[in-house]
Amino acid sequence: MQQLINNKFVRYIAAFIIACDLYYIASIQLFCQNKKLPTLTSIQIEIDLKSDEYPSVSHNEEGNFLNLSSNIQTFRMRPKDDHIIDYTQVVDHCDMSKFLVEQCLEYLDKHESEYTIPNPNSNLNETTKCLPDQPPTLFHVFWKGDFSDKIAMMIKSFMFTQPLQCSKLYVWLDDNDMRLDENPHAKNLLKFSPKFIEFMKWDTEEQLDLDPIYHGWKSIYSSKRRAVSFSDMVRFVVLQRYGGIYVDADVLLLRDLRPFYQTNFEFSYQWSFKEDYNTAVLRLRANSTTTRMAIEGAMQNRMKFHPFDIKKYFVEKFNPTKDDVNPYLYMLPVALFDPLWLKRDHKQPKSILTPNINVWYDVFRPDLAPNEFKNVEPEDATPALRKVDGFFPGAFAYHWHNNWKTEILPTSWMGVLQSAYDEFLNGQQPNIYNEYLEL
Ligand SMILES: *[C@@H]1O[C@H](CO)[C@@H](O)[C@H](O)[C@H]1NC(C)=O
Ligand SMILES: *[C@@H]1O[C@H](CO)[C@@H](O)[C@H](O)[C@H]1NC(C)=O
Ligand SMILES: *[C@@H]1O[C@H](CO)[C@@H](O)[C@H](O)[C@H]1NC(C)=O
Repeated sequence: MQQLINNKFVRYIAAFIIACDLYYIASIQLFCQNKKLPTLTSIQIEIDLKSDEYPSVSHNEEGNFLNLSSNIQTFRMRPKDDHIIDYTQVVDHCDMSKFLVEQCLEYLDKHESEYTIPNPNSNLNETTKCLPDQPPTLFHVFWKGDFSDKIAMMIKSFMFTQPLQCSKLYVWLDDNDMRLDENPHAKNLLKFSPKFIEFMKWDTEEQLDLDPIYHGWKSIYSSKRRAVSFSDMVRFVVLQRYGGIYVDADVLLLRDLRPFYQTNFEFSYQWSFKEDYNTAVLRLRANSTTTRMAIEGAMQNRMKFHPFDIKKYFVEKFNPTKDDVNPYLYMLPVALFDPLWLKRDHKQPKSILTPNINVWYDVFRPDLAPNEFKNVEPEDATPALRKVDGFFPGAFAYHWHNNWKTEILPTSWMGVLQSAYDEFLNGQQPNIYNEYLEL
C-alpha cells in the first residue's frame, strides 16, 4: 500500500517536474545584477565573498526525484513568466463579505491558471521575464534592534519562495553598531549578500534630506506634536525612493509574488474586517502619483503614516470606502496575506482553515490545536503532520502579528517552517517549487 501511494505520488511529481522544467529551461543560472538602481551603501560584512561562489538554483534532474522532501508533500509550480494577477478574478472569489477565507484560499490554491493572465502591457521583447538582466523584483523589510530569529525567518521565507533569478530583498537595519558576522541568526545569511539580500543601513536624515517631498521634516520631527510612528514612515520613504514591496518583519512570504509585482496597480491589504489598510504588505512604485499623495498627505498631517490615516490622503471625504480608494491603492482581501485574521477577530468563527488554528500564538505552539487537521481523526493527529505545503495553501503570505519574544520550538508551525527554510538554504532540501539551492 505504501508502495502504491508512493508510485502515484512519484508519477504526479514527475509530470510536475517536466512541466516545471519547460518553463525554467532558460532561467536556471542565477545572475541578478541590476544596473538601473543607484549605487547603495551596503553594511560592510567582514567575510570574504568571492563573486563566482554565489549559490545558484537548479532543478532536480529527472530520475533524481525519489528523494522526497521531508518537509513538503506536494510542490507548487512557479507562475508563468510574464503573467500577472487578474484582480477581478481574485476579488470575485475572495470578497470577504461573501466568502469564507478557506473558500478564497481553495480558489487561490487550485485555480492559478484562471487568475493569472498574460500581461497585456508587456511587449514581445521579454522585458518582464524573470531574467537576470532585468531590474529585480524588489522587497524591503525594516528592523530595529538586535538581529533576531524572527527577522531571520522573514528573510529566509523570501529566499524560500521568491524567484531568486530576479528578486532582491533590502533589509533596512536601524542599529549602527550591529556586527552581523557575530550574530547567530545573521551570520548564515551573509553568504547570500549582496546577491539576493542587501543589508542596508537606515539613516533618517540621509533618506529624508534627499527628496524635497519631505521639506520641513526636521521641524515636525523634533516637535512635541509629532505623530511619527517610525516603521510606518520608513516603508513609505524606502518605497518612494526605490519602489517595490515592503513587508513587515512579522510576515512570512508563502508564494511567489511576482505576478502581483508585475501588475500595473499598487496595493496593500485590508485591516481585518475594517475598511482600512494594513500596510504590513505594501506595494508602491518609486515616486508614483499614489506614493506622492500618501507622503504629501502625511507631511501635512504631522507625518502621520499610520495605516488608518492613509485613506484620507487619497480621497478628501469622511471615511472613504474601499471603492473610493482602490483607484489609488488597491485594498486587497485580507485572506491573501493574513489568512487567520478574520477568524481570530471572531468575524468568521466557524471557519475551518488549513491548518485549523485560532489565535496568533497557535503557530508557535508545539502541541496541536484542537482539530488542527480537518481531515484527520483526532487520535491520528500529531505535530509530525505539519508540512510546509499544508500551511495556508493558496495564501501569498502569513502575518503572525507581534509574537516577537515567543520561542520557536521545533514541532510548532514556525519550527517546521524554520527547518524547511534552513535545509533549503543549506542545499539539502528543495523549496516549495522543487528547486534546490546549489552552494
Ligand atoms: C523593450 O521594451 C521596452 C519597454 O517597453 C522599451 O523601452 C525598449 O526600447 C524595448 N526594446 C527593444 C529592443 O525593443
Ligand atoms: C518625482 O516626480 C515629481 C513630479 O513628476 C518630480 O518633480 C520630482 O523631481 C520627482 N522626484 C524624484 C526624486 O525623482
Ligand atoms: C536525500 O538527500 C539528502 C541530501 O542529499 C541526504 O542527506 C538524504 O540522506 C537523502 N535521503 C534519502 C532518503 O535518500
